[in-house]
Amino acid sequence: MDTHGRKRTVAAPRLTAALGLLLAVGVLAQGLTAGAFLQGDGQWHPWHEALGDALVLPPLISLVVALALFRRQPDTPSVLATRIVLLALVVIAIGAGHAGKSMLVVHIPTAIAVVGIAVRQATGFARIAEPQSGQPARSGYPDPEERSPSETKRRG
Ligand code: HEM
Repeated sequence: MDTHGRKRTVAAPRLTAALGLLLAVGVLAQGLTAGAFLQGDGQWHPWHEALGDALVLPPLISLVVALALFRRQPDTPSVLATRIVLLALVVIAIGAGHAGKSMLVVHIPTAIAVVGIAVRQATGFARIAEPQSGQPARSGYPDPEERSPSETKRRG
């Protein structure tokens, strides 16, 4: 539940999870290609650049789908904010990468943050059932305020 006691909802949870997984795997591949070209194997540099530019697509699609479904399956604001932040971080990582070595101090931490958020989307949303038409999907984020039925019995 959010701070107002409403249940969190997420638009297209399985697609969001799949795009999160794709992004996380893509950034790991970026670590590999970067490692390879930093070791002196220059042929990996264009691969890193091309894959890096392409990695804007998963968070962009995720945000566009969420906005397109906004009337039918609205994201809870925090879920929508996460999509926006993820897209912004990937754009920053791409910009910092193109800016060259002097911006690696921004580039690498941003990429690490992207993996963290993308993995959270991938694992948090993967098990949520797609909603029936007109019904919002519940988020898979752990909810500290929500009790399981057995807990409710125990605590009364
Ligand atoms: C979100 C993930 C990432 C994206 C979108 C991304 C994207 C890019 C782009 C577009 C470039 C510019 C290439 C060029 O213009 O020649 C670049 C450069 C670079 N990236 Fe990444 N990258 C990512 C992750 C990483 C990671 C994880 C590492 C290392 C751990 C890394 C290390 C580097 C290095 C060393 C450069 C070259 C900087 C230079 O010498 O000009 N990147 N990256």
